[in-house]
Amino acid sequence: MPLLPLPAARPAELRRSSRLPLSASPPSPPPLLDRLHIEVTNVCNFKCEFCPDAIMERKRGHMDLGLLRQILDELAKQPITRIITFHLMGEPLIYPDIFAAIEMAAERGLQLHLTTNGSTFQLKPDHVDRLVSSGIPKVTISLQTPDPHTFTLRGAPPKLSANAYFEGITRYVRTNLRTADSPTRVHIKFLDTTPHPFLVPHKPMKVVEGKAQMQEMLREWASHLLADLPDCPDQNWIEQQIDCHKPGRWQLIPLHPKLVLETFPLDSWGNVEADSVVPASFGYCNGASQQAGILHDGTVVPCCKDFEGHIPLGNVKEKPLREILSSAPACHLRQGFDRFQVENLVCQRCMGADTRAKAVLRQAGSIAYFKVYNPLMKRLQPHWGKT
Ligand SMILES: C[S@@+](CC[C@H](N)C(=O)[O-])C[C@H]1O[C@@H](n2cnc3c(N)ncnc32)[C@H](O)[C@@H]1O
Ligand code: SF4
Ligand code: SF4
Repeated sequence: MPLLPLPAARPAELRRSSRLPLSASPPSPPPLLDRLHIEVTNVCNFKCEFCPDAIMERKRGHMDLGLLRQILDELAKQPITRIITFHLMGEPLIYPDIFAAIEMAAERGLQLHLTTNGSTFQLKPDHVDRLVSSGIPKVTISLQTPDPHTFTLRGAPPKLSANAYFEGITRYVRTNLRTADSPTRVHIKFLDTTPHPFLVPHKPMKVVEGKAQMQEMLREWASHLLADLPDCPDQNWIEQQIDCHKPGRWQLIPLHPKLVLETFPLDSWGNVEADSVVPASFGYCNGASQQAGILHDGTVVPCCKDFEGHIPLGNVKEKPLREILSSAPACHLRQGFDRFQVENLVCQRCMGADTRAKAVLRQAGSIAYFKVYNPLMKRLQPHWGKT
C-alpha cells in the first residue's frame, strides 16, 4: 500500500483527480440527511491551532442572504435534513446577518443547531440577549480550551483575554438558564487530547488529557455555570454524572435540561496536515448520505471534512440541493461507500492513517461503526446519536 505524501495532494491536483465522474451512476432519490452544514461565512476571528482554518486556501467570504433564503426555502418545502447548522468553517456569529438568518430558519420551522466559538458574547455584548431571545433550539459553544493557559492556542484577537472570553460565555449560559421562555439547550464543548488508538494525531497538542484532568475541568465549569441557579440539580447527582466520564471519546454529560457538557477528541480533520498517509482503499463513510455541506459560495460538498471544496457535488446557485444530492457525483460517492470502496483521493486520505496497521484498523472500524455499532445502538436507544 503506497504512502500518500503531502506533495501528491496539492490542492489543484487534488481537485482535478478527485472530481467524480458525471455519468458514472444513474441518478437516485436523495437521502434524508441527518445534518446539513450551511456555511454562512468562512471568516473567523480566531486562529485555533487545532483547526484547519489557518491552512484553508479557499477565498474568504460571507454567504449572500438571498442565497441563504433560497436554501432555507427549499429545505422548508420538502424534508431534506433533520438538522441544519450555520457553519462548516468560519464563525457564524460574525456573519453580519446572523440574527436575520436565525429568524429565517425559525420562521420556516427548521431545526437549527448553532456552533460558535462564543467570543462575541464578550466582543458584542448585545449578542447575549439577542441569542437568548431568538428561540434557537440548540447552541454549542466551542469552549474547547477551558483555562487561561490552553486558551493561548486559540489565536484570539488581542483585545479578548482568556478571562474576558470565559466571562462572556458564562453570562450567556447563565442568562439562558434563567430565561424561562428560552427553549435553547446549550452544549459546552471541551477538547479531549487523550491519545486514542483509532485517531491520527492532528499535531502534537495537549489541551485536556486523561480522566483526572478532564473531570477536574468539568467540575470547575459545572459549578461555575450553575452557581446560584434557583433550579440547580442536586450536587451529588452532578458529581455522579461527571464521575462517569471516560476520556478519549465523544461524550455528553447532561447537567440540566438546558445545559450539557460535551467532550470531543482532537481530530486530524481528514489528515490534512499529516506529512504522509497510508491511504484507505476500503471502508464506509456517511458523507453525502447522512451529512453534507454548502460552502458560502453555494458549492455543495459531502461532509464537514471537505473544507476546501475538493469534492464538489454541484452548486445551489445552479440547481436545487435536492437535485444535486440525487445526481451522479453524489450517487457515485454513496454507491462506492455502499460497496465499501473508497475511491475518491480526498476520502482515501481522510480515512487513511499514519501507519499501515492503524489505516487497516480505521478502515475496518469505519464499517463496524456505521454498519454494526450505530444501527445496534439506534435500535437499543432510539435517540442515540441525536443531540
Ligand atoms: C470548524 S468550527 C466552526 C464553528 C465555530 N467557529 C466554532 O469554533 O465553534 C466547528 C467545530 O470544530 C471544532 N474543531 C476544530 N478543529 C478541530 C479538531 N482538530 N478536532 C476536533 N474538533 C475540532 C471546533 O472547535 C468547533 O467545535
Ligand atoms: S475552530 Fe472555529 S473558532 Fe477556531 S479557528 Fe476554527 S473556525 Fe475559528
Ligand atoms: S471519507 Fe470522504 S466523504 Fe467521508 S468524511 Fe472523509 S472526505 Fe468526507
